[in-house]
Amino acid sequence: MNVNRRNFLSNTLALGATVAAAGCINARGKLTGFAGAPMQGFADKPFEKVRVGIVGVGYRGVHAVDGISQLPNTEVVALCDLHQERVDHGNDVLVRKARRPKAKRTFVGPEAYKALCEWDGVDVVYIVTPWQLHAPVALYALKSGKIALVEVPAAMTIDECWALVEASEKYRRPCMQLENCCYGESQMLALSLVKQGILGEILHGEGGYNHDLREWCYGSFDPKIRFQHGYWNHWRLRYNAAHDGNQYPTHGFGPIAQAMDINRGDRLDYLVSLSSKPYNYEKYAKEKFAGTPLGDLKVKMGDVNTTLIRTALGRSIQVKHNVATPQRGYRYEQIVGSNGIWCGFPDKLYFQGHGAPETKHEEFFDEKTYREMRLKYMHPCWKQAGAASNIVGGHGGMDFMMSLRWTYCLQAGIPLDFDVYDLASWCSICELSERSCTNGSRPVEFPDFTRGAWKTTPPSPLWTFDPKVIDLNPERYRKNKEAMNI
Ligand SMILES: NC(=O)c1ccc[n+]([C@@H]2O[C@H](COP(=O)([O-])OP(=O)(O)OC[C@H]3O[C@@H](n4cnc5c(N)ncnc54)[C@H](O)[C@@H]3O)[C@@H](O)[C@H]2O)c1
Repeated sequence: MNVNRRNFLSNTLALGATVAAAGCINARGKLTGFAGAPMQGFADKPFEKVRVGIVGVGYRGVHAVDGISQLPNTEVVALCDLHQERVDHGNDVLVRKARRPKAKRTFVGPEAYKALCEWDGVDVVYIVTPWQLHAPVALYALKSGKIALVEVPAAMTIDECWALVEASEKYRRPCMQLENCCYGESQMLALSLVKQGILGEILHGEGGYNHDLREWCYGSFDPKIRFQHGYWNHWRLRYNAAHDGNQYPTHGFGPIAQAMDINRGDRLDYLVSLSSKPYNYEKYAKEKFAGTPLGDLKVKMGDVNTTLIRTALGRSIQVKHNVATPQRGYRYEQIVGSNGIWCGFPDKLYFQGHGAPETKHEEFFDEKTYREMRLKYMHPCWKQAGAASNIVGGHGGMDFMMSLRWTYCLQAGIPLDFDVYDLASWCSICELSERSCTNGSRPVEFPDFTRGAWKTTPPSPLWTFDPKVIDLNPERYRKNKEAMNI
């Protein structure tokens, strides 16, 4: 392990104490040793077939098996979990539901993922475990020469973020975070509006994950049951109990980072973070689990966290997290430009000019105009593959759109949509927000994981599919769906 990186945390904590006295915590640290070549724009050779091994076949992992099994030229070849029953569920979905062959290899046990990563029958390691395992499994996959696709948040600490950057560079293997919320039709409409300049100069963004997860966090996990409200070993409850700040920032943040081309012309500069007191988790535990160890659980995480970020080009971002109180809906988003505004949950839009009628002061576009503008500026990927994505589904089709994109990029031999620098900078909010919260909400600086390359990396293009590379015909997906018997 690189000494500079290993010392990063202790150095910056010590440095933080000095700078904090002056009012700001410096978390940039030193440059790490340059272990390989930069991964911006890295493209692999085109894959004729993409062979995927899934690690973690819990609630989300089963969805992954289902969605991936419906992708053209993409095969789930390996499954791995702590529990034999979960692996069996995965195979059941492959055989009975998707009518695909069983996984060629299965791996069971706490460190069985290592053998999956080492197996030369797999190209992509798809990681859907509890958070603390994301980075260790991804590191092992990269070291084994495999592509790592990692559920959110892909890394929980600054140390893990640097380790993934270095490993991706050293082993020349892509490492992408699976932020499905960047692929919703409405979020991609926003991106298309931004890329075409309709919203003008982007000045501000807001995003939040507001989803009452008390039942999930305290629920029990039975490996024999396919869908249930309960995480294995209460992993999410335990993590939230041990940490303040925003430990699940990327759903709301991802679409904003894309709209601002973070790491491609702009970068995250510093944040401040503030939490309300912890309340509802402990109250819920006392009411439902009195007399058991869960009943006395002490929770560090404040029920409502608000984190404010400033970018190097002077844009502002607000990210919220609340998984503790009763509420309706589960996310909210907003992108504010000099010429208009887009909002998600509920979807609303207003901008000036560009063929749009003027509305009354204080009003967004009415339903009819929204529909017209949505069709006019729809993201090319949704124009091409929206019908297929809606048929297969998953969070309104965005899960399948994301899967179509990564397998398409691999089959076309072009860079994946997001790189390891996106992963690191987005996920660093977890640790940095906690540091700010526990230091009187003082500003904390972001490390520059690109080591200055954000200044020269070009903005990401408006993505499209080449239909010669991947079959986007909705009939193919409709037939698959009809053929499913469970
Ligand atoms: N993007 C999204 O919309 C979305 C939605 C839900 C969950 N997630 C993410 O998916 C991940 C999994 O969440 P979940 O709801 O499926 O949790 P879960 O508790 O239902 O599943 C976790 C699985 O990991 C397995 N596991 C634990 N240790 C393991 C090990 N050492 N090796 C192999 N397997 C191991 C468990 O047995 C379990 O089957 C989390 O990171 C979560 O944040 C993302």
